[in-house]
Amino acid sequence: MGGAVLALIASAVLSACSDNGANFLNPQSNASNAESNLFWFILIVAAFIFVAVTSVLLYSVIRFRARAGSPEPRQTAGNTPLEIIWTAVPSVILFIILAVTISTMFYVANPPGNTTDMTVNAIGNQWWWEFQYPDSKVVTADEMVIPVGARVHVNLMSNNVIHSFWVPELVGKTDVIPGHNNSLWIQARTIGIYRGECTEFCGAQHAHMDFQVDVRSQADYNTWLAGQQVAPTPPAAGTQEAAGYKVFTTAGCLGCHAVNCPTSVSQCPTVIGNIHIGPNLTHFGGRQLIAGGVLSNTPANLTNWILHAQDVKFGADMPSFDGTSPGYSALTPQQVDDLVAYLESLQ
Ligand code: CUA
Repeated sequence: MGGAVLALIASAVLSACSDNGANFLNPQSNASNAESNLFWFILIVAAFIFVAVTSVLLYSVIRFRARAGSPEPRQTAGNTPLEIIWTAVPSVILFIILAVTISTMFYVANPPGNTTDMTVNAIGNQWWWEFQYPDSKVVTADEMVIPVGARVHVNLMSNNVIHSFWVPELVGKTDVIPGHNNSLWIQARTIGIYRGECTEFCGAQHAHMDFQVDVRSQADYNTWLAGQQVAPTPPAAGTQEAAGYKVFTTAGCLGCHAVNCPTSVSQCPTVIGNIHIGPNLTHFGGRQLIAGGVLSNTPANLTNWILHAQDVKFGADMPSFDGTSPGYSALTPQQVDDLVAYLESLQ
């Protein structure tokens, strides 16, 4: 047990040091706060018992150690009061821990009042996350934007393998299972960006299936949502972006990606409820992360991703456009530059 306590303390200290703030002991939502309180409660009870038992043990070992000529110790077998005490006291302690655990589980299972303010579908793909806002007909990838304080109902869906959704500071792990839609709720307390990750082995790039939850003020969230609901302006004729759009529509990108949902149904017939091969790129330029959350959205990273996706993330559905992926011809440096300019212009 001493080893277990030490391991717990070590993991708490180590996770407190990790960057990016993915620390379950730094709770920033109502549910994760309840979970963190339960952790500390059990740790303190266990630590108290550990210290008490070890102290008595050490005292007895030293005080009553065998000495030359010492008599046979007094035997206590069959002492009824003692046996009642050492059965009853641990039972009471365990029942208290059980009661606190069950009440935490009930709290975490359902939001206050059993009602939520909005719904987001989080869809696990190999290996990136899509986020759909069914009430607003908005689809994005790699980052989920929510307003602070809102009770957000998150539907977890997959059509491939089992993933697991985890945002240490906001919500505990829940499996994302094909054919069995789980759900969870998040009520964030603090504005900020929180790292999430897939935490169930789901294939070669399981370790590169990150995302972030961007908690904004209600006003900032409304601004973001309104922007997402408007299709980006088509690039003006003769610009580099227009050349990039031409590359986009001729190089095979449209086989997996859409760029003007939700206003043009023709290119994006089923925005919500369906699972898409590649991320919807309608407002790609406004995103902070690309490639399933593993690269920041800069022109240099995007260029590298388009040219060498299979080197960045071997096994992903995205082919390399450097000529090494069968069926996809290499893009010229000029074509890649134009394509990057076009995609980054999709604000
Ligand atoms: Cu998805 Cu691991």
